[in-house]
Amino acid sequence: MDEITQNYKLDGELLNIHTYPDPILTQVADEVTDFDDNLKKLCKDMLYTMYHAPGIGLAAPQVGIGKRIFVIDVDYTREETSEGSGEYTLSNFNPQIFVNPVIKNKEGQISYQEGCLSLPGVYEDVKRFENISVDFQDTDGNSHSIDASELFSICIQHENDHLDGIVFIEKLSPLKRNFFKKKLIKAKKQKNHNL
Ligand code: NI
Repeated sequence: MDEITQNYKLDGELLNIHTYPDPILTQVADEVTDFDDNLKKLCKDMLYTMYHAPGIGLAAPQVGIGKRIFVIDVDYTREETSEGSGEYTLSNFNPQIFVNPVIKNKEGQISYQEGCLSLPGVYEDVKRFENISVDFQDTDGNSHSIDASELFSICIQHENDHLDGIVFIEKLSPLKRNFFKKKLIKAKKQKNHNL
């Protein structure tokens, strides 16, 4: 575990999560070339924001940054401190940072009900590859390769789609896709109107 993943929960900045139809969500993100302190801070803040949302994955375009980066934790536990308090304790962290990821060796098929912090209120079954391997870099620019299956694999594919400007409703039938698009645009308009 590197320095960032050890210290991410000590402090961090809560980033603004962009929601559909924000144009940043449909743009193809750029390769990361500078492995500097700004990159480390961004990853730390993305983890902080993901844990507080809460979510199990967050991609840079979702916080308005068009770079090929996402963070994932499919293992942490979130427990309410006492019933109805609205306060939560987080534990069992397993933060993972992926810079310039490339998915390879896609095998099998798995279906899972997905949600997305950028598509509030939408939960639908999406088909993904069951097993994948991923080449990626860490925040120091070192190269790694890992195998992923089940929820970890699903989450990587979902987040990687964000880097290609794809939100998961694009994976649904045209009928469902259009239904949710209209619903999300309407919800966004109403929200803006109420401000
Ligand atoms: Ni998402």
